[in-house]
Amino acid sequence: MVGRGPTDAGQATIRHHLTTALEKTGGHIGYDVRPSARRQGHATAALAAALPIARSLDIRQALVTCDETNSPSQCVIEANGGRFNDRVGDKRRYWVPTS
Ligand SMILES: CC(C)(COP(=O)(O)OP(=O)(O)OC[C@H]1O[C@@H](n2cnc3c(N)ncnc32)[C@H](O)[C@@H]1OP(=O)(O)O)[C@@H](O)C(=O)NCCC(=O)NCCS
Repeated sequence: MVGRGPTDAGQATIRHHLTTALEKTGGHIGYDVRPSARRQGHATAALAAALPIARSLDIRQALVTCDETNSPSQCVIEANGGRFNDRVGDKRRYWVPTS
């Protein structure tokens, strides 16, 4: 996990292993961007930066999830090559190649 300080735009989290709960809803990579820093491409860049790190952890396809209603996050995932897999509850699950 990358920490967030008061001047940071946001954070990304990489989960090295999936638990049963993470398989359903959390996925390998999460991110969030401070409201005042949104719509500047930070989340798209953060996911892009996280993918090679995941690859270095032997994760060949990263599971990335988002709420059904979270269209900005869906854009972020698809801009990084994410392929829709399925829905689990109100979550959409995508596989994103790490290379
Ligand atoms: C989802 C979130 C991470 C997006 O962060 P961001 O830095 O604003 O995203 P980006 O600037 O990289 O934008 C990604 C795409 O979403 C679009 N977008 C961003 N905010 C949007 C909004 N409020 N409404 C419509 N589209 C939006 C951008 O235009 C961009 O689309 P494009 O690729 O077609 O140009 C941010 O809104 C956030 O932190 N939300 C709360 C936490 C969260 O939902 N985390 C993700 C959990 S899966």
